[in-house]
Amino acid sequence: MIWSGTFITFEGPDGSGKSTQAGLLAQRLESLGIDVVLTREPGGTPLGERVRRVLLDRDGVRHAARADALLFAAARAQHVDDVIWPALRRGAVVICDRYADSTVAYQGYGSGVPLDRLRELGAFATRGVRPNRTILLDVPVDAGLARRSAGEPEGLTRFETADTFDAAFHERVREGFLELARIEPTRWLVVDADRPADAIARDVFGAIAELLQLTHEAG
Ligand code: TMP
Repeated sequence: MIWSGTFITFEGPDGSGKSTQAGLLAQRLESLGIDVVLTREPGGTPLGERVRRVLLDRDGVRHAARADALLFAAARAQHVDDVIWPALRRGAVVICDRYADSTVAYQGYGSGVPLDRLRELGAFATRGVRPNRTILLDVPVDAGLARRSAGEPEGLTRFETADTFDAAFHERVREGFLELARIEPTRWLVVDADRPADAIARDVFGAIAELLQLTHEAG
């Protein structure tokens, strides 16, 4: 599919500071007069926010990893149709806090769902709408989880508290993200996120400024 906008996603382990960095980037681009849509997964639409609660609430309900993958994909399909694709078509910069790579990292590398099936599922859910640039905020697992635990305990999700999602799970997720970045280095930018937020924001903005200029020249 062809669009005139720019699609940027943030990925990373829990506690990597994605939401903060996505917000800072959105503010900075908006201050330059750019049409920006800031959104997140799971979520971004009324259906997606409902599915988010089903997925992340700590209600003790058992989830098969395949069921999780399908639920994340269902929320994503709605999000692409209602928010991401229309914004890209009108030429906006879409900044999304997590996207299909999170399913490959968490349900695939983390929980063992076959990666090729998740890639097929991702293509189906997204209609092939893929990010122009993906920022991986990489942080050691213990540092990320410590950062999250220092926040509001009500804010913690099933993925941060259930026994099945132990430190080894989060380690596989982190390694999975790094492998995805190695496989497709032109799309991914790996940023060391175990640093102060302003230093991270500078690196992120530098990369995106360059990308937008390229897009502009190409268009
Ligand atoms: P967060 O977006 O607030 O970090 O919370 C989302 C949680 O859901 C996080 O632990 C990662 C997890 N997740 C998946 O397991 N698969 C997915 O496809 C997505 C989008 C998130």
